[in-house]
Amino acid sequence: MADPASPICCPTVAAIRAVAAPWREAGERLALVPTMGALHEGHLSLVRQARAQADRVVVSIFVNPAQFAPNEDFSSYPRQLQRDLDLLETVGVDAVFTPDAAVMYPAGFATTISLQGPAAAGLEDASRPIFFNGVATVVAKLLIQVAPDLAIFGEKDFQQLAVIKQLVLDLDLPVLVQGGPTMREADGLAMSSRNVYLSETERALAHLLFTSMQKIKAGMAGAGTVASLIEAAVAELEQAGFRIDYLVLRDAVTLGQWQGQSAGRLLVAAWLGKTRLIDNLAIDGRGLPGHSKE
Ligand code: PAF
Repeated sequence: MADPASPICCPTVAAIRAVAAPWREAGERLALVPTMGALHEGHLSLVRQARAQADRVVVSIFVNPAQFAPNEDFSSYPRQLQRDLDLLETVGVDAVFTPDAAVMYPAGFATTISLQGPAAAGLEDASRPIFFNGVATVVAKLLIQVAPDLAIFGEKDFQQLAVIKQLVLDLDLPVLVQGGPTMREADGLAMSSRNVYLSETERALAHLLFTSMQKIKAGMAGAGTVASLIEAAVAELEQAGFRIDYLVLRDAVTLGQWQGQSAGRLLVAAWLGKTRLIDNLAIDGRGLPGHSKE
């Protein structure tokens, strides 16, 4: 195995394929962790999850312009390649794939992937209509370029994970897609590269997204209906200064309406000032009679 302290940097498709070819020939299991950089403990936990299951781990770092709408934060998205590489050295990565936009979308690039199913669940897609087409296109390219046996994505972007699982299934891509648990700050805020946008005051409030979902979950074990619990949580969050895009309980697999007895997922997206935060929480449907519908 290569020295885990010094990942090989591959800026082109030819370079990452040349690096991975001997691993594949030797029958080694390869895992990919796709990222947009600005790495934090959440990403590093995905790398550790990959490391535990594969002989070789590749991390890709690419801020994908195709998944940002013109009014979104593509130009201000944090970019800190050297810091990311230093962090990756600490967790044992074999190679870092660092294509730029010209490598991923050369002049004349004309193909994108069009989606339905979990990508049309009325959640992220409702306020970010181009997002999943951009994600699916770049993820399909990354999976074809690196050809991993296993690819790991954070559960914080829960709808994205569902979209990628559907993509891989529908296109018969020979890779196992796995989710990695959301890493949280001490107060419960889900780790995100975008948390750096929060002011000090906003940062102090941001954990309320998670605590309000926990409250709904706890309330479901009691007498409250899901609808009334969500209504109360929305009112509380708005009172604290959030602007809610959605706070819903959905089926954890289809992202369609939750039927009460299946695994559910609370999903939230909300603005705090100029920062849009998302989070989600697993709900076990069993043993909650009376909670049949959203
Ligand atoms: O979740 C992300 O960081 C990105 O959406 C991904 C999956 C790397 C695609 O650009």
